[in-house]
Amino acid sequence: MPANKKLLVLPGDGIGPEVMYQVRRLIDWSDKRRHVTFNVTEDLVGGTSIDTHGVPLTDSTLDKAMGADAVLFGAVGGPKWDNLEFKVRPERGLLRLRKEMDLFANLRPAIAFDALADASSLKRELVAGLDIMILRELTGGVYFGEPRGITTLPDGTRRGINTQVYTDKEIRRVAHVAFELARKRKNRVTSVEKANVMESGILWREEVQKVHDEHYPDVELAHMYADNCAMQLVRQPKQFDVIVTDNLFGDILSDAAAMLTGSLGMLPSASLGAADSSGRRRALYEPVHGSAPDIAGKGVANPLACVLSYAMALRYSFDAGEDADLIENAVKRVLEGGLRTADIMQPGKAQVGTKVMGDAIIRELDKLAA
Ligand code: IPM
Ligand code: MG
Repeated sequence: MPANKKLLVLPGDGIGPEVMYQVRRLIDWSDKRRHVTFNVTEDLVGGTSIDTHGVPLTDSTLDKAMGADAVLFGAVGGPKWDNLEFKVRPERGLLRLRKEMDLFANLRPAIAFDALADASSLKRELVAGLDIMILRELTGGVYFGEPRGITTLPDGTRRGINTQVYTDKEIRRVAHVAFELARKRKNRVTSVEKANVMESGILWREEVQKVHDEHYPDVELAHMYADNCAMQLVRQPKQFDVIVTDNLFGDILSDAAAMLTGSLGMLPSASLGAADSSGRRRALYEPVHGSAPDIAGKGVANPLACVLSYAMALRYSFDAGEDADLIENAVKRVLEGGLRTADIMQPGKAQVGTKVMGDAIIRELDKLAA
């Protein structure tokens, strides 16, 4: 087993540190079992970095992220920093990490745990057994396109501008990831854009189709407009296996898919770069929920999305699929045992806080590994 893997932990703002603390306990647990041994460094990002260094991400933290085998990220942002200039807001720290580390493939699984099927806003039969993988392109599109900005025209009119732009290469590399993922799942890819109104959407559709025909004719491929996809996600979500889409549509559709599973507090994510010659990929793992400033510091946040993100790190960065399975099973058993944080609370269940949830996971891990 590989020893001393470099792990950079960036808890961030709001509930980030609370949920990440529960992950630190799991890292210690992995360490004790000696399956994966980590060299853990912790650093600041987002608002807490602004408070200390004046910027949401320092160059030295970025360097550490570039050299790490994986980055575990909590959440950034909060009302304290809401009025800052756009360029130095907490979110810019996250966006800079994504861009500089070239993490173009963002995996957002939406899995409905059976025990939570009744916590979904949809009927149980529509979501029970749901297992979708949303693959969001993460370093292109309107999030980074130029020109951008707010300008004042000669007649005094103010104009805001952002640019949706994709190259064939950017589309093709994320399409490859989609088809590879599908082959290990139900072998179905739905590619999502707005080719009916956007040229970048037409290019997206053409390039995905080409990658399919050239390399993955065995995988089932469908194309869908983003608005229809939003509708289908709440109408018949189980029709999907892998959804591949651009940065902005992926941002929106993954929030919708998350809610199908009962709570945003349950959804992990992995952001991956391209593999280098030794097969190593830069990677950042992050719960999809934000910093939730309204409940920060109260010890009530759901740590499960962060815990499941750590499981994804074990699976995708450290080739420790068995340890990832252990953690996912422990989460499943804790939920079946009736423990719930406030966001997924249901009648007849026991409401607990962040720490008790963490205790319960470690207890189940001990039992599963015994
Ligand atoms: C997400 C978030 C981010 C995004 C924000 C915090 C910049 O909503 O990861 O989905 O828009 O990408
Ligand atoms: Mg989002």
